Amino acid sequence: MTTTGDTQFDVVVIGGGPAGYATALYGASAGLSIAVVERDKVGGTCLHRGCIPAKEFLETASVMRTVAGAKEFGVQAGQPIVDFSVSQGRKQKVVDILFKGLVGLMQGRGITTFSGSGELLPDRRVRVTGSDQTVELSGRHVVLASGSVPRTIPGFGVDGRLVLTSDEVLSLNTPPASVAIIGGGAIGCEFASMFADLGSQVTVLEALPSLLTGCDEDVIAVVARSFRKRGIVVHTGVNVTGHTPGTTGTTVTFGDGDQVAVDAVILSVGRRPLTAGLVNEGTGVVVDERGFVVVDEYMRTAADGIWAAGDVVDTPQLAHVGFAEGILIIKGILGEPALPVEYSRVPWCIYCHPEVAFAGLTETQARDRGLDVVVKKDPFGGNSRARIVGETDGLVKVIAERMPDGRAGRILGVHMVGPWVTEQLGQGYMAVNWEATPDEVAQFIQPHPTLSESFGETILALTGRGLHLG
Ligand code: NAI
Repeated sequence: MTTTGDTQFDVVVIGGGPAGYATALYGASAGLSIAVVERDKVGGTCLHRGCIPAKEFLETASVMRTVAGAKEFGVQAGQPIVDFSVSQGRKQKVVDILFKGLVGLMQGRGITTFSGSGELLPDRRVRVTGSDQTVELSGRHVVLASGSVPRTIPGFGVDGRLVLTSDEVLSLNTPPASVAIIGGGAIGCEFASMFADLGSQVTVLEALPSLLTGCDEDVIAVVARSFRKRGIVVHTGVNVTGHTPGTTGTTVTFGDGDQVAVDAVILSVGRRPLTAGLVNEGTGVVVDERGFVVVDEYMRTAADGIWAAGDVVDTPQLAHVGFAEGILIIKGILGEPALPVEYSRVPWCIYCHPEVAFAGLTETQARDRGLDVVVKKDPFGGNSRARIVGETDGLVKVIAERMPDGRAGRILGVHMVGPWVTEQLGQGYMAVNWEATPDEVAQFIQPHPTLSESFGETILALTGRGLHLG
């Protein structure tokens, strides 16, 4: 821990995850003096226990699928077997390199990192309790970015052996032969897909009527079909009532007394903000009954000079949203004009197989808002590149507002499911956020043959005249 030198900073950031380090890096780029308080490692959940390790394992799963399907291309590779300790090693190497890069970047920008738990005191002071000593910092501004932790449910004590959350799953030495995943949201579907591809028998138990609530229904249908084809058992609309450990695994009870015996249970039932012990009396910061720090659209708390960003506020729990909120805070501190984050139009990417990516309203959300819409869908089956790579499950769907003349106007939502769609969303995201119309977007040429042509085809069809799509 840095204990000598300055304890006065322009900005003191509590939490070194994506929201915190983005605030720090962007603020340092603007010439502000910055301190980051982190009790574990900078990079946070995303780098060490979330996005990065999860996507790295999903890549292992993708290599398995590719090798298993190699025969179709005339490549004899035999049945692939995963050595998960090697996968773990590779994942750790990726994480370590990114961690080293981030530390170097922060040092290079002159950001001071304090290791310990940060606690907000009155008058924009921050107490840092480290393993060896305590230090008090003071900031012209303080940013709360302490993140979130996995939620758990009664009756499922996390022991790291039978009951796991994403924290424990990402350090497993071997994939469980069978697993029940409770919660079929983003994390649940990514783990279901990954473990199924690695050879586990997977059961997903979801309380709501469908997987991936919040995604477009056509997109959900494609994922559900792919899961079914790959032997993933999905029970939706079920309550999980408990589990009974046996000699090796455990038996989970759900629905009307149904049971499934598994080696391990993974809880992916959402994440809760980590605010216990963060804010002291007399600071003026409001924490709501669910533990979220209350902010306005510019990320200002009720206390002057105290801001909050990332999973600790009640906005989409996405690293890139945290980045955007951090940038917004620094602009606010500098007194520069800045637009609040438009949360209903942020990009969402889910890395299960097939991948999901979207921005803006689903068809149902648009109709529920009373909007008259024009909708076009282009299945990847008609896309030449998708045929070449052998990944034709999926579609691109674009929802536009219907103009008085019946033609498609402002693009409201772009929804994709299929090969590498997380890398293809950019154009759709821009179209939605620029409030562009199909006539405008159709001017742009898509390279051929590419997967991105499906977006171009869908847009062209929305102008009233398509090439391959009517
Ligand atoms: P989530 O909110 O996306 O999904 C949780 C699911 O669990 C919901 O469908 C909910 O109905 C269900 N559930 C809750 N309690 C249940 C119960 N007792 N029994 C059965 N089902 C139950 O949360 P998730 O997947 O844990 O992810 C947490 C956050 O992390 C998300 O908000 C997401 O923003 C973020 N995330 C995003 C990713 C991405 O964009 N690729 C990947 C992973 C996480």
